[in-house]
Amino acid sequence: MASVPSLASSVNQRVADALVSALPEAGAADPLLRRSDRADFQANGILALAKKAKANPRELATTVVGGIPTGGEGDVIREIEVSGPGFLNITVSDRAIIETLAARAGDDRLGVPLNPSAGTTVIDYAQPNVAKEMHVGHLRSAVIGAAMVEILEFTGEKVVRRHHIGDWGTQFGMLIQFLIEHPHELDHKAAGAEADIEVSGEEAMSNLNRLYKASRALFDSDEEFKTRARARVVDLQAGDAETLAMWQRFVDESKIYFYSVFDKLDMDIQDADVVGESGYNDMLTETCKLLEDSGVAVRSNGALCVFFDEYKGPDGNPTPLIVQKSDGGFGYAATDLSAIRDRVGGLKASTLIYVVDARQSLHFKMVFETARRAGWLNEDVQAVQLAFGTVLGKDGKPFKTREGETVRLVDLLDEAVDRATAVVREKAEKVGLSEAEIVENGRFVGIGAVKYADLSTSAARDYKFDLDQMVSLNGDTSVYLQYAYARIRSILRKAAEAGDRTPVAHPELELAPAERALGLHLDQFGELIAEAAAEHAPHKLAAYLYQLSSLFTTFYDQCPVIKPEPELVVGENRLFLCDLTARTLTKGMSLLGIRTPERL
Ligand code: ARG
Repeated sequence: MASVPSLASSVNQRVADALVSALPEAGAADPLLRRSDRADFQANGILALAKKAKANPRELATTVVGGIPTGGEGDVIREIEVSGPGFLNITVSDRAIIETLAARAGDDRLGVPLNPSAGTTVIDYAQPNVAKEMHVGHLRSAVIGAAMVEILEFTGEKVVRRHHIGDWGTQFGMLIQFLIEHPHELDHKAAGAEADIEVSGEEAMSNLNRLYKASRALFDSDEEFKTRARARVVDLQAGDAETLAMWQRFVDESKIYFYSVFDKLDMDIQDADVVGESGYNDMLTETCKLLEDSGVAVRSNGALCVFFDEYKGPDGNPTPLIVQKSDGGFGYAATDLSAIRDRVGGLKASTLIYVVDARQSLHFKMVFETARRAGWLNEDVQAVQLAFGTVLGKDGKPFKTREGETVRLVDLLDEAVDRATAVVREKAEKVGLSEAEIVENGRFVGIGAVKYADLSTSAARDYKFDLDQMVSLNGDTSVYLQYAYARIRSILRKAAEAGDRTPVAHPELELAPAERALGLHLDQFGELIAEAAAEHAPHKLAAYLYQLSSLFTTFYDQCPVIKPEPELVVGENRLFLCDLTARTLTKGMSLLGIRTPERL
């Protein structure tokens, strides 16, 4: 499929060419083109170039302008003028806008180019912990990670997903020992054929919760049980078959629960991509040996540690990364370092992304630095934590129930869907939705609202979990975008029913300001995708789509599409703009993991 050069890049090219002729010593100079309020674009780069060449900026700008053909039938640029000390204000022709958009519309990828230097990204996201309830932090990782996967894949990147679930550690000694002593605690009530996945997901988690609490209580109160539980950890690490089989039951039971939540989230997680902490067990001893032999890590009070000058505790003493504890146990760091060896050495990653809570930033800084010292990461590999902030309650404090407990993710999602369904139901009669459609749309709107709220602010920031705001029809919400999409689809259906009009691009027409504004924004889609991918910033895509809907709303207010009926070609061209807007919206939303119902 053909990628379509954006108007910005065409304009940029013309200005850059004229710059080189006017000032050959400038070489491949960047005109620094930006969208502008005064014209379509503004070029800000001439000032600095003139300064460097000791030339008069206004004179240079005037020469550049003289070297650019404008105003002709085939010219992209309609008008260009020097402004201020040496900026250029540039207006493109209406013809160029519609011709470019028509080329986009003719392409499956909407003309969005593939990244010529695409590589392989291993992305670590959606990583809950075995035998534990998922919380809002896991939601953020899953939602942001899934959006990054889609955006990167759309640019042509090869993406390997890794769900680094917490499935190993000393707590399993206690759980396994308890299960051995109470063998029926994980049995399912009715393994009936109809037990649907949601019910069994709930049941799985409540089994695990009960077992966790009971074993914890015993562990804290019964010294003999504690001793047996500790011995069980040793058996587990030694790979004792019965112990491992019990451990596997916890993992399997937890996965039933995880998948039920991911399913609710309308998210596709593949079992083959779930490679948890335990997946690196075979590498841990070697990882430690390599670190110790190379001197990257040293023994300190029996523990294997990596020291950093820059990381100190409150007492001024250095905070080391502990790779192996003094009792021989391996920790979180040993696993993450082994995972890096696997992802770079085995999976041949050029980029590693970790979608993890910002509160783990120190851990990742230390892990990455250690891997660099050990040579497992080099200049060819970029390792980044896509760190996300905390989810806050309406009161601005970390999100908790009134009793101070962590809020169960499932409850939140169910409530979001309930509220969204109510919103959908209100309009359902007018739109003529069946009960089944109301239920389905309620899910798409509710889950979309939760995802969008998470994706529409930059990941690093904390955000307030406010369902009222999330499902509001006004403002920067997914529902607003979904309604915009459904409205456009309804316009297109009406036009199709009327029969005489279809979406057709007419480059010969003069455009109204609202048509130009919408068109120019539509044209930026490819650049936006490239930016969101390179900066790992899905919120930029969300902002782009929100603006697209707003520009569409203005266009629809100011430019009649169906009634009062405009001249035939004008109507066709407007339908064409509607169609491309709808296709851009649905593509963008699907990259964010959000559905766009046809009727709402
Ligand atoms: N399971 C961890 C948690 O719940 C997140 C894992 C992050 N990934 C990693 N490679 N350490 O906090």
